[in-house]
Amino acid sequence: MAEQTPIVEMQNIKKHFGAVQALRGVDLTLYPGEVLGLVGDNAAGKSTLMKVLSGAYLPDEGQIFIKGKKAHITNPEDSRRLGIEMVYQDFALAGNLDVAANIFLGREIVRWGLGPIRVMNKRAMEEQSRNLVDRLKIDISSVRLKVDRLSGGQRQAVAIGRATAFDAKVIIMDEPTAALSVAAISKVLDLIRELKAQGCSVILISHRLEDIYAVSDRVIVLRQGRKVADRPVSGNIHEFRENIVAYMVGAKNDFSQESEETLAERG
Ligand SMILES: Nc1ncnc2c1ncn2[C@@H]1O[C@H](COP(=O)(O)OP(=O)(O)OP(=O)(O)O)[C@@H](O)[C@H]1O
Ligand SMILES: [Mg+2]
Repeated sequence: MAEQTPIVEMQNIKKHFGAVQALRGVDLTLYPGEVLGLVGDNAAGKSTLMKVLSGAYLPDEGQIFIKGKKAHITNPEDSRRLGIEMVYQDFALAGNLDVAANIFLGREIVRWGLGPIRVMNKRAMEEQSRNLVDRLKIDISSVRLKVDRLSGGQRQAVAIGRATAFDAKVIIMDEPTAALSVAAISKVLDLIRELKAQGCSVILISHRLEDIYAVSDRVIVLRQGRKVADRPVSGNIHEFRENIVAYMVGAKNDFSQESEETLAERG
């Protein structure tokens, strides 16, 4: 894998909010077809780093390369055009619309348009939604179901399906399993495996280390806005958990540059 051109390479990303240094110079590499776990304690900077990649935030410093080419991501459309989609922590679906309408929200297939008047091609959108739902093996009986009648797990699947609908090559998921039942969690994990099998790369943010362990090839740990570990997922789940927690709480750090805080903590 080391010889491959990364699909995403983020270098020295810095981002502050007022006095808060959310990211203090983070590097992240993602390879084609790879599932990368992104973990860390609350406020470590995970969502911020991914919002920089998805164009929701502009970094203060740092560079992003997509397939080896320097990218200028200044808004979510730039990122989407580069094949990157993010499913947000509080995924925004319109509950009163059906599954197909949600999948196509904001990028509807138009049958004909005359200035502001547009007639949607509902049948095409339904067909394509059905194909997508089947391809990803999502368990939903009809794409005409209103989203607010779906379970939490089905909604998460629709949000992920929507992100993958338009040839996304990189799917970022922020806590996709946080609010789900055990059965629904295992379906989301299956969906991640399915995306990988179809050649997508996935970045998975989760506090559930067993989910990270179950599907990730590699894991990055952030602590206080810095990367403290970047390693393949290996060993059994107990060793994995013990190791990752040690990085999360600051007992271990694979990268030499120590923050002033860490030095101060140690006296
Ligand atoms: N829009 C914002 N305005 C101000 N501060 C922010 C903003 N977004 C994030 N922060 C701050 O940046 C830091 C990193 O937040 P971030 O949301 O990236 O953490 P996280 O690792 O995703 O945490 P969690 O696991 O709780 O979701 C936090 O101190 C947070 O308060
Ligand atoms: Mg977050």
